Amino acid sequence: MKFKTRKVETSRVGTVDFDHLSFGETFSDHMFQMDYAHGEWQEPQILPFGKIEVLPSLSTLHYGQSVFEGLKAFRSAKGGINVFRPEKHAERMYHSSDRLCIPRVDKQLFLDAVDALVTLDQEWVPSKKGTALYIRPFTFATEDYIGVRVSEKYSFFIITGPVGAYYKEGFNPVSLMTSGEFVRAVRGGLGEAKTAANYAASLLPAYEAKKRGYAQVLWLDALEEKYIDEVGTMNICFVKDNVLITPPLQGTILPGVTRDSVLQLARHWGVQVEERRISIDEVMSSIKDGSMTEVFGTGTAAVISPVGEIYHRGETAIVNGNRTGPLAQKLFDEITGIQSGERSDPFGWVHHVDI
Ligand code: COI
Repeated sequence: MKFKTRKVETSRVGTVDFDHLSFGETFSDHMFQMDYAHGEWQEPQILPFGKIEVLPSLSTLHYGQSVFEGLKAFRSAKGGINVFRPEKHAERMYHSSDRLCIPRVDKQLFLDAVDALVTLDQEWVPSKKGTALYIRPFTFATEDYIGVRVSEKYSFFIITGPVGAYYKEGFNPVSLMTSGEFVRAVRGGLGEAKTAANYAASLLPAYEAKKRGYAQVLWLDALEEKYIDEVGTMNICFVKDNVLITPPLQGTILPGVTRDSVLQLARHWGVQVEERRISIDEVMSSIKDGSMTEVFGTGTAAVISPVGEIYHRGETAIVNGNRTGPLAQKLFDEITGIQSGERSDPFGWVHHVDI
């Protein structure tokens, strides 16, 4: 699909230090925009990345009726650009949108918009190992109304930007702590939707954790505060007695695209996989008795992020001597290899964009 396009007069790409990319601070020249009014999506357009004008009465600012996605594009070793599992992200946005009463953005249009933006801003796709073009689609309510109700107007945007590692630790192990005070999501709530409120709920506990030297909070279930849910910005996996264990998708955690990729790869390799509830007590005791040899997070931004230390109620457990384990390493190498086109793609995850 061809989109109405207004290009920048001068690109900013020359001002970017591609050797020192952080996460989420740099944005490419263009963005995609489409508004919803009178019960339907209006004409889409691509325009220069820039300010949008809103009134202080914008409903999203008050009640958070918004959803988003996060996916990545990579420079392919074979030439062109690889986008990783864009269909899966478009489908997840359907589910998040349904939960928030937000109109769906058609999957094909989502995919065409990603292709068009990536093609237009191809110079922004970094090539160094460990970097990517992060793609952030999002929809939010735009009605100027401060009563609490479902909005009748929305905007869908896609912005992109080159990124490096999400954590300052890079691929080195991060430390996590449970929160003795706060919970993130309860079944029937918003935990499985990619919506602003989930992240808002995590900010204070994550801030407190950071002050204590931990990278993130390891969330426990909200009812018993006993079973592991996920981490603020990633799903979590454990390796115990050579079995890969991860909490099941039961409504409180995000159905991660990287989580799904990890489970498919592990099964393909013959690793035994269990999607089951796992308690923090089991985690702490099995790390200590040596049967749990690896813990790692999975996420689009985090990729595979080894966990070296977990703090829970006054106790600390050090995983695998605070070193990256073999399965985390193998998964990281395989997933990043598929993304960059250096390894074969048996599941057809890569969407190739010719440039
Ligand atoms: C992602 O992994 O893409 C996320 O959206 C997590 C975080 C940066 C919000």
